[in-house]
Amino acid sequence: MTFPSTIEREKLPKHVAIIMDGNGRWARSRGKPRLFGHRNGVKNVRSVVNAAREIGVPYITLYAFSTENQNRPNDEKSGLMHLLEEFLKRELANMLKDGIRLRTIGDLSGLPVFAQKIVEETVEKTKHNSDWNLTLALNYGSRQEVLNGIQSFAQQVSESGKCPQKIDWSEFSNFLETKDLPDPDLIIRTSGEFRLSNFLLLQAAYAEIFVSPLHWPDFNRQAFIEALQNYIQRERRFGKTGDQISHSTKSTAQIQTT
Ligand code: FPP
Repeated sequence: MTFPSTIEREKLPKHVAIIMDGNGRWARSRGKPRLFGHRNGVKNVRSVVNAAREIGVPYITLYAFSTENQNRPNDEKSGLMHLLEEFLKRELANMLKDGIRLRTIGDLSGLPVFAQKIVEETVEKTKHNSDWNLTLALNYGSRQEVLNGIQSFAQQVSESGKCPQKIDWSEFSNFLETKDLPDPDLIIRTSGEFRLSNFLLLQAAYAEIFVSPLHWPDFNRQAFIEALQNYIQRERRFGKTGDQISHSTKSTAQIQTT
């Protein structure tokens, strides 16, 4: 597989958020335990991250562990946390070399201490990097994030005496954990299901959604490029009519693979 040779970069999404689904089914179809699927899913993270960097998508957010995943069996949760630890230990050198900044969204205090520690260390060690942005959603749930944001915002509003009617979205969005990230332009979900599963519900207000039938461990570089090709063909109207969207923003771009 070769890299894309020409890209109309301005048509590319700035932020792609991915729901990495299907690790369990991928493993089961091979007669293997679920953790075998997660292990292969982690391997795949590197190829998709590399593809995004090389193509010119500067922000990737991965839904690695949801608040609802806390209800999984203990051995699966523990296996996932050890995979996360291995991944971060292995990738730190690459992140530093490639200027990748790691961020997280979600409540890290709900992770085992060893996982919190490695995540916090990696976030700290990469905090001055600014070439590329990887965000892991860990023990993340959109509804909890919004509730937390409302609580802090309401307190600030009441303390400042600000008129609640004057509050706008941009002010409130600063109370979400994604305040330093652009809204996702494209949400990819693997494994064929058409759900957001409590992922970035408000931030995804105008996101394009792409559902791939492939299970996450099979969602390779080429599949990622196909998702981007599909995205750049779409007309994003943001509530306007098609006629209001100028020809220049109508997408005819192609990512050519050589
Ligand atoms: C969904 O597959 C996947 C998850 C719940 C976990 C995704 C996590 C990883 C790929 C590993 C950790 C990530 C990093 C970045 C180190 P599923 O188990 O729900 O699959 P199924 O629906 O087929 O059962």
